[in-house]
Amino acid sequence: MRYSGLIEKYRDRLPVTDSTPIISLAEGNTPLIELVNLPKILGHEVKIFAKFEGLNPTGSFKDRGMTMAVTKAVEAGSKAIICASTGNTSAAAAAYAARANIGCFVLIPEGKIALGKLAQAMMHGSTVIQIQGNFDDGMRLVQELANDMPVALVNSVNPYRLQGQKTIAFEVIEALGDAPDYHVLPVGNAGNISAHWMGYSESVRKETEACGLCNGQCPYHPKEPRASKRPIMVGNQAAGSAPFLRGEMVKSPETIATAIRIGHPMSWNLAWAAVRESGGWFNECTDDEILAAQMLLAKHEGVFCEPSSATGFAGLIKDLTAGRIKAGSTIVCTLTGHGLKDPDTAIAQSSQPHLVAADRGAIGELISRFL
Ligand code: F0G
Repeated sequence: MRYSGLIEKYRDRLPVTDSTPIISLAEGNTPLIELVNLPKILGHEVKIFAKFEGLNPTGSFKDRGMTMAVTKAVEAGSKAIICASTGNTSAAAAAYAARANIGCFVLIPEGKIALGKLAQAMMHGSTVIQIQGNFDDGMRLVQELANDMPVALVNSVNPYRLQGQKTIAFEVIEALGDAPDYHVLPVGNAGNISAHWMGYSESVRKETEACGLCNGQCPYHPKEPRASKRPIMVGNQAAGSAPFLRGEMVKSPETIATAIRIGHPMSWNLAWAAVRESGGWFNECTDDEILAAQMLLAKHEGVFCEPSSATGFAGLIKDLTAGRIKAGSTIVCTLTGHGLKDPDTAIAQSSQPHLVAADRGAIGELISRFL
């Protein structure tokens, strides 16, 4: 059957009805890629899987939440949506608004969003408003604006966003047959870690459901794959924007990982609950550690994610090195966005192309130096 998006697939676990007008770009259903080289290179006896959210229609996990948020906005009769964004939310909002034929306003921090994301918001025809402030300023402003103007707020304070984003846990459980031992990911505004936890929590098989007699055929047996446990959740932040590590909000967040350059996360309590209930923890990673992790994934696994996404993997390397993760564990690492979103950062840290004459001999000589 043709895959037509996560609302269709998981409609029994999402707040939609038969008459809800679904706005979808066939998001979700992203690959779970086993890392085959890095565990060996790094010297750890673990299984690591990358859930590559960069392969969503607009190149990030935001599409999971946006299909739900825009669907519900349209159902409620909204003619326009608004969000503050470090880039990916604005790209997704713009695309889904275009699809739904409604207006879209995005507030972005001036000069601090990656080029690919800006291009997306512009191409999809949203009204792009650069503010002389950071994401946290934008977040405060869009909440005020949505209060007294006819625009629906689609940041992750909108509960439908987390509903859509929780489906990542359903997909991981389907692919692995159960929840992993650990799930690691980057944390910014903290909606995504909260949504992961919601998805896992909804998937745990309850004692009363385990009938064990019917081979899944009786009406009491859950139709969808369920998990026997929930993973330990590990949230990773950039050192210059790490309010969870500090235990308090950060006034002027800074990091090269612009997507998570956030000092005042909205889902503060939900994210703490996810980490505490799961027995997990938060890490912080320096910009150098983040870029090194991004490069490792690109060079040794062929997986190109953006710097913010690599923050989860950077934190995982620290935890493995520190012996904080048990040998033999299965770990899923959400890679939240595609590397093509931020070509400037990628090019700045890579070796530059070789410039040679258009000549067989010169090129042959160059190649033989690398063979
Ligand atoms: N990774 C990427 C690539 C992101 O774009 C974001 C958030 C995160 C991780 C963190 O997720 O906020 O749910 O904790 N980007 C938002 C945006 C803030 O505006 O695009 P979170």
